[in-house]
Amino acid sequence: MSGQASDMVADHDDRLRPEIKLAVPSDLAPILAVDHMGTDPDRREQVETAIRQGHCWMGLSEGRVVGYLVADTSFYGHPFVWLVVVAAPFRRLGVATALMRHVESLFPNRKLFTSTNESNSASRRLMESLGFERSGWIDNLDDADPEIIYVKRLASE
Ligand SMILES: CC(C)(COP(=O)(O)OP(=O)(O)OC[C@H]1O[C@@H](n2cnc3c(N)ncnc32)[C@H](O)[C@@H]1OP(=O)(O)O)[C@@H](O)C(=O)NCCC(=O)NCCS
Repeated sequence: MSGQASDMVADHDDRLRPEIKLAVPSDLAPILAVDHMGTDPDRREQVETAIRQGHCWMGLSEGRVVGYLVADTSFYGHPFVWLVVVAAPFRRLGVATALMRHVESLFPNRKLFTSTNESNSASRRLMESLGFERSGWIDNLDDADPEIIYVKRLASE
């Protein structure tokens, strides 16, 4: 990725204010380019399917993709964020927060779920900073690294 975070639009507290847009099929390549797992065939298929189904949102700064999120309502009928990924040079600038807040706004009065590996402290801290609470865990998805489930009860708009 060219360009440094310092080149991008930021406000006084150095947060980016990414534009959040629903992804369309032509966005697949730039979305996968920000993801360190973007060359993995399973990840590609997951994101391609999410885009086709209208379940993938991207964060844009000065027209370039800086992060993306996949969410749907396939988790026992509840909204669930399956993936949130921010390009490494654009982390700690509020991009994931902006993506999550956007999805929260789509599901007023619902319980929004997500999950992350216990070892992923950045993701756990992100969820905690957004007011998510732990809601159990799943063993054996990844060996010796439980998947922690989080929930946030969303208020009305
Ligand atoms: C986890 C991830 C999505 C966070 O994205 P981000 O845009 O950097 O997150 P934000 O800037 O919105 O962070 C919001 C808050 O979350 C917490 N946080 C985020 N990353 C953190 C880190 N590496 N260490 C500690 N706290 C962190 C902080 O409280 C942060 O607020 P602060 O910067 O004011 O302290 C990003 O690190 C990433 O893409 N990781 C690789 C993919 C991944 O693991 N995704 C999650 C599982 S699908």
